[in-house]
Amino acid sequence: MNYKDKLITAQQAVDMVKSGDYIVTGLGCSTADAFFSHLHLAADRLKDVVISTCLPMKDYPCFSDPAYTDSFFHDSWFYSPATRKAHKMGSTSFVPNCLHFAGTKRLAHRQPNIYVGAAAMPDEHGNISLSCSNTYEMQMIAAADLVILEINPNYPRTFGDAFVRLDEADHLIEVDYEVPALPDVPPNEKDKVIGGLIAPYIKDGDCLQLGIGGMPNALAEMLMDKKDLGIHTEMLTTNMMKLFQAGAVSGRKKQLQNGKMVCTFIMGSKELYEFCHDNPSVEVLAGSYTNDPYVIGQNDNMISINATLEVDLTGQCASESIGSTQFSGTGGQTDTATGAQKSKNGKSFICLYSTAMVKNPQTGEREEISKIVAQLKPGAAVSLSRNDVDYVVTEYGVAALRGTNIRERVELLIGIAHPKFRDQLRQQALELGIISQR
Ligand code: COA
Repeated sequence: MNYKDKLITAQQAVDMVKSGDYIVTGLGCSTADAFFSHLHLAADRLKDVVISTCLPMKDYPCFSDPAYTDSFFHDSWFYSPATRKAHKMGSTSFVPNCLHFAGTKRLAHRQPNIYVGAAAMPDEHGNISLSCSNTYEMQMIAAADLVILEINPNYPRTFGDAFVRLDEADHLIEVDYEVPALPDVPPNEKDKVIGGLIAPYIKDGDCLQLGIGGMPNALAEMLMDKKDLGIHTEMLTTNMMKLFQAGAVSGRKKQLQNGKMVCTFIMGSKELYEFCHDNPSVEVLAGSYTNDPYVIGQNDNMISINATLEVDLTGQCASESIGSTQFSGTGGQTDTATGAQKSKNGKSFICLYSTAMVKNPQTGEREEISKIVAQLKPGAAVSLSRNDVDYVVTEYGVAALRGTNIRERVELLIGIAHPKFRDQLRQQALELGIISQR
């Protein structure tokens, strides 16, 4: 079949869905927007269709409209506002995973009937770039009975190993929506302090992975005068593009993919997507490779920077849930933090503000709580274990936990907690037997 014969409408794609189907879509910007905007229209004839997403950037009626819960259930590897809402309604469930194993483990459990995701336009050789994500998409496409791609002139054609040949796609939907962009939120004062504490650890020639959130962004802005930085990251961000454009990133000291910025997905501004289009400096490689700790560790001087929600006094990091309520996902936090520590001279930083303003369920008022705690909230998922934690950073300093004993950790972590919580934390550490009175 040639290109023209493969063209269908989003409605025709929806007409192919059967009750009981398992439908997988791409991560973030690679979610199939036209297909999911139409899917609920088939709700009357469908039952028990399962949709699998990862960090969807929009909500759709088939995700979270209560009218369609008999027709569609949804599972997700990484929650976003849309999936948090759907979770509250009982129409979605979280799939625990480390990103480099996400596709492999899910496939061991269930094979997709349909893969549907966003992609760039086919080139003159019939190659279709999966554009903004290669996290698990190629694995799912290889396993799916039916492959439907939403091809879009606004999506960057990226290099790497995420090319689907025209004959591997069963159907194509021509669309022209914009690539969903992340708002460019300027770093706040705390972000700047935390970025300033980490910046001296980063030397010319280091290789960076920066996670999601304001703190990694603030740090990137402080590295603009560095030389020969490398990028081997899960998510390619707007600030990594700015580092490249400022001449701080060359990739020339990297052991792997020398001279290339390597990622498994791209998420940021419109300018970032334009920068990535037809740009051989960027390689979008499979998540099973990019995020494999053994691969990450092969680049020397690997610096991994991620964020967390809560850290206990032994160093356990709860980065994806608030108590038992799922907030986001492990994503690549464990992969990148452990991978960086396998690297020669590598370091992993986990950052957090010392406090959060949270609603007191009794009074309804917002109150300040410590994010460094004696014990994690009941049910909290530990994204990075205390065995794997390395540096923890708040606006009060850097706690270097590698190789330390629990007594040392308690003191180091209390030392970077907000001063008003320090006495209480020490008291709790004693009462809980985390440390004992000498
Ligand atoms: N207790 C209760 N609530 C807390 C809290 C705590 N200890 N810490 C934060 N919160 C609340 C905040 O107040 C905020 O609530 P609001 O939205 O009502 O203001 C919310 O949780 C989010 O916190 P915030 O610090 O703004 O999160 P963020 O958007 O900067 O994201 C992570 C931080 C940790 C959730 C995010 O980095 C993540 O998901 N990490 C895990 C995955 C990962 O690191 N991947 C790495 C490779 S990309």
